[in-house]
Amino acid sequence: MPDWPARAVRGMHDLLPGAASRRRTLEQRIITVLDRYGYREIRFPVVEHSAVFSGMGESSDVVQKQMYAFADRGGTQLSLRPEGTAGCVRAGIEHGLFRSSEPQRLWYLGPMFRHERPQQGRLRQFDQIGVETYGLAGPDIDAELLLIGNRIWEQLELPPLELELNTLGTPEDRARYRQQLQSYFLASADQLCKLDRERLQRNPLRLLDSKDATTVALCQDAPDIVDSLCTESREHFAALCALLQQCGVVFRVNRRLVRGLDYYTATVFEWLLPGQGAQNAICAGGRYDLLVEGMGGPQVPAIGFALGLERIAGLRTETTPAEHPHAYLVIAGDPAPGMALAETVRSHLPWLRLLVHCGGGNLKRQLRRADRSGADYALILGATEYADATIALKSLRTDQPQQHLPWQELATHLARLYGRALADSPADD
Ligand code: HAM
Repeated sequence: MPDWPARAVRGMHDLLPGAASRRRTLEQRIITVLDRYGYREIRFPVVEHSAVFSGMGESSDVVQKQMYAFADRGGTQLSLRPEGTAGCVRAGIEHGLFRSSEPQRLWYLGPMFRHERPQQGRLRQFDQIGVETYGLAGPDIDAELLLIGNRIWEQLELPPLELELNTLGTPEDRARYRQQLQSYFLASADQLCKLDRERLQRNPLRLLDSKDATTVALCQDAPDIVDSLCTESREHFAALCALLQQCGVVFRVNRRLVRGLDYYTATVFEWLLPGQGAQNAICAGGRYDLLVEGMGGPQVPAIGFALGLERIAGLRTETTPAEHPHAYLVIAGDPAPGMALAETVRSHLPWLRLLVHCGGGNLKRQLRRADRSGADYALILGATEYADATIALKSLRTDQPQQHLPWQELATHLARLYGRALADSPADD
């Protein structure tokens, strides 16, 4: 017996067959929407140099407390990615994607890692689909992203989500606001809980989404970010709101929406499940016009969002796509002719799920396996069938009489049974 438990790491989960195929269907539906808007996939590693993530902000909890950071065998400081934006920017800089004057519209899918306290909706390994755009500064691309989000929810038939929107203005606007907030809360610093006193020093904006009752009450009279915005920031936000209204997008301006990562400038947004609060946002993002340059790239405006696949999966009652085999080949004796026949049939019928019995055993036992596999048909190659190069086809789900067919007619016969052509494309059911 090994001395380790056969148990996944806390906050990290397996997806077993069935759940895994439901997840694949969900991902595929989202990707189809992104594809229709002209977004292209990018893949980048799960591990990066830890420095890649410092641009996400020294004051963000994700960087401060939640990174899986370690030194590799050579002593290089590495981190498991807690999100995708920083890695996407690193890849874009490294491969010159931002040198082109063409805007980039990208998406990625994959696991992210945060050492959070595991609880409902909060995992230590979770999957995100992220969408990032580069080279577009106007409110039109902000609106496009919000339209994409809404189309995804519509395609997935999710319960209604609430879209909350805010602007954090330029870095100068934000610095002004930060100072105002700090002076406001400093006056009541002794009433704040330990965490919020820490936030007051590190990042006073985070006080606005504190859960502590005293801070929440103090927030009522806290200065409003609107009063710190320059004309350009106000105009960008007003133009975005107007665009959204014209496109029929329902949203709520939430002046207290600040986001937990430090790289945001101007537009920020979250889609929430009504009544659940920002802790369980389904999808969130915003503009980060300074990050590319801050990470050593050119000056490129950027905006994106990421959605949490586990949180979305939790809202849907997805039916499991058909995974049972169409046919199960039972072989008496030497497996070679049966396996060769199965390969020929697979070449003719790319959509067919054909399972070949492995592990020997008598015909009765093999037929029991065939039945348990959920297959529609058993294909039986017994001694007689070998002798005359035929195969028996037995329905496992109906009373249809068993049939005998010559080997060369098997593919055509199966195609006819399923109403498909011989050179049909793979099944998408
Ligand atoms: P985020 O708000 O940290 O933003 O995460 C985005 C989404 O990932 C959340 O709304 C949530 O659905 C999911 N998520 C986050 N943490 C967890 C967790 N511990 N367990 C389960 N799901 C989680 C970002 O990651 C930014 N990179 C988004 C972005 C892209 N901004 C610009 N471009």
